[in-house]
Amino acid sequence: MHKLAVAGTGYVGLVAGVCFAEMGHQVTCVDIDESKVELMKSGVSPIYETGLEELMQKNYAAGRIDYTTDYVSAYKDADAIFIGVGTPEQPDGSANLSYIATVARQIAETIEKDCLVVVKSTVPVGTNDKVEQFIRDFLINPVKVEVASNPEFLAQGSAVHDTLHAERIIIGTESKWAEELLKSIYKPFGLPIVSVNRRSSEMIKYAANDFLALKISYMNDIANLCELVGADIGDVAEGMGYDPRIGSKFLNAGIGFGGSCFPKDTKALEYLAKQHGYELRTVKSAIDVNQDQKTMLYKKASKRLITFNGLKVAVLGLTFKPGTDDLREAASLENVPMLLQQGADIYAYDPVGAANFAKLFPEGASAKGAISYVSTPEEALDGANVCFIFTEWGEIKALHPDVYRKLMRTPLVYDGRNLYSVAAMRDAGVEYHSIGREG
Ligand code: UGA
Repeated sequence: MHKLAVAGTGYVGLVAGVCFAEMGHQVTCVDIDESKVELMKSGVSPIYETGLEELMQKNYAAGRIDYTTDYVSAYKDADAIFIGVGTPEQPDGSANLSYIATVARQIAETIEKDCLVVVKSTVPVGTNDKVEQFIRDFLINPVKVEVASNPEFLAQGSAVHDTLHAERIIIGTESKWAEELLKSIYKPFGLPIVSVNRRSSEMIKYAANDFLALKISYMNDIANLCELVGADIGDVAEGMGYDPRIGSKFLNAGIGFGGSCFPKDTKALEYLAKQHGYELRTVKSAIDVNQDQKTMLYKKASKRLITFNGLKVAVLGLTFKPGTDDLREAASLENVPMLLQQGADIYAYDPVGAANFAKLFPEGASAKGAISYVSTPEEALDGANVCFIFTEWGEIKALHPDVYRKLMRTPLVYDGRNLYSVAAMRDAGVEYHSIGREG
């Protein structure tokens, strides 16, 4: 078992730290935020993630995990330090590496024994070479330090499960020592390990994420064509998915991909290509299709209604996907401001994300429209003139089509997640518009 430190307690860092502890390693998670550290010590997770708090409490009680702001004590005698800090997108699409640089410098100035620094954050190809050089430039004690790449493939909402049951662990190393150490850290997980060089490892992360983004944009593109030619995207996806070369996952057309990864990673790879004088046309198309897709339903509804001014608009779902309170790049963030601008009276429901949304759009009247947050989908639908569905939460999916007809003043529904059968909505007397299907 190893002594590990993890820098950053966001989705990547905290979940990795907790899972390493669960596998028997001695883990110290470092964050700069004192109140967050106190919260984690008391067994409360700063992020909403199924199963995470239970594992935090169990491993904290067993003395295998601790949380601190004191990076010196955490780093100085660690066998390996995992970096899981954010790499947010900059206005030009490139990744902001300043958080990584800060941690790298702290590591260089504190380690007192040979140490492997493992970058889990998604970073542009070639970054880890620079991180290694940077750490060596600032190193104070005469110890061996190497950098390895170990990208993360967890999805929000199922992060713990994805980590403990990953299809593969990718490790990118430049020496036998680094490769063997990382392999021994991951041995207790009992998962397949793919060992490549550092740059390939960095590229695998982007190539995998962007391929999934491409798959979604392709299906959205085809869905838009399906509507024009009278085909049904659900049936088309099902028929395609039987071919194992295509696979049945990530074929769901909808309101476009959001979250902290696909939008950022598509732009970052396009930017990297551009830097090397290459135009990554496939990825660029995926970005363009996605941008248009997010406002597709709003545009359709705008054509159908003369105005949103003074209309009661039910918004069901605010987060970028179910199972998370994360709003980053969510379709709601594009559509709600447009509806407010048009003078809509919005009643929004989200089982988990409403509080975060209310920080951005406080309850009450704005310049033109107004927004209220309600605790059930029924309250949002009551007396509504139109309804938009942005997230496929189970609570929304479970609503019977009759509920829309009974509660809404005019049963007019724009569904960005294709939650209902077109026939069932028609039979219930609902005017139903979805993605890539008739209506
Ligand atoms: C994604 C990847 O799935 C993870 O493998 C990866 O590790 C992670 O990014 C990351 O780089 O950290 P995540 O962003 O949490 O995970 O969520 P996904 O479940 O992949 O969904 C992303 C977006 O695509 C959501 O807005 C979702 O609604 C949309 N989506 C997904 C579709 O529109 N259609 C689909 O068929 C699947």
